[in-house]
Amino acid sequence: MTYILALFFLILYLNYMPKVTYIDYKGNSKTIEVDNGLTVMEGAVQNNISGIDADCGGSMACATCHVYVEDKWLDKIPKPEDGEIDMIDMAFEPKKNSRLSCQITLANELDGLVVTTPEKQS
Ligand code: FES
Repeated sequence: MTYILALFFLILYLNYMPKVTYIDYKGNSKTIEVDNGLTVMEGAVQNNISGIDADCGGSMACATCHVYVEDKWLDKIPKPEDGEIDMIDMAFEPKKNSRLSCQITLANELDGLVVTTPEKQS
């Protein structure tokens, strides 16, 4: 019985889809479930979230996936690599909580993540 229960919870864990809330600069928000292992950018593109164009397809070469990450999540996502920091410097109105959404891979621990898109990308 314990084995079946453990298996049940394992399957539940593996099939869990974290929710991400995308907010545009006007405050309009949309919360969607995104498959584990996809990036915040991929979740946006697959769900037609405006403001995240992802022109380079996630190769860190365009900054059209630039988002502001809600402060409480900053410590829960891996720190940006040098290439991401360089690209953010070229993005529209970078802030201390700026990230490229193509570099944030979703996992159960990021369930509830909130990102906002800059005005210029809307
Ligand atoms: S999609 Fe181009 S930098 Fe993220």
